[in-house]
Amino acid sequence: MAILRILEVPHPMLKRRAAPVERVDEEIRRLVRDMFETMYEAPGIGLAAPQVGVGRRLCVIDVSEEKNAPLCLVNPRITWRSENLASAEEGCLSLPDQYAEVTRPDAVEVVYLDEQGEERKLRADGLLARCIQHEIDHLDGILFIDHISALKRNMILRKLAKARRLKASA
Ligand code: NI
Repeated sequence: MAILRILEVPHPMLKRRAAPVERVDEEIRRLVRDMFETMYEAPGIGLAAPQVGVGRRLCVIDVSEEKNAPLCLVNPRITWRSENLASAEEGCLSLPDQYAEVTRPDAVEVVYLDEQGEERKLRADGLLARCIQHEIDHLDGILFIDHISALKRNMILRKLAKARRLKASA
């Protein structure tokens, strides 16, 4: 297993639409294992392949407290969204230490392939539903800051640039 480098904004890879995984083979399973290790180490609750420089439609998630509920979604598709919306603070490993309130459907149903290439369906709400939507957004080149006002987005991008300058001069 290996810890992968997580790309940060404004890396162009993060704005690109990822291509479907054609076959869930040993190479994909190795990538999934590395992505889980990278996510747990970060630490984070979700990580999408484009964030580690791979333009394929897959992501890993674990929203459990005990970090014992790994979920891998290959070629995920949201097939239902609740009309009920919910707002909560989100962050992203590609925008370190930046957070904003994002409004999304409170519940979703997602169809995907698991690590064995088996088709599965999952209905989720709350944090898991939010995380699934956030990660699938990454596969379409969308970041959580794309869901907030331009004013707030620019504030976050400025804060991120400033944090980087401080780190570089430290
Ligand atoms: Ni993210």
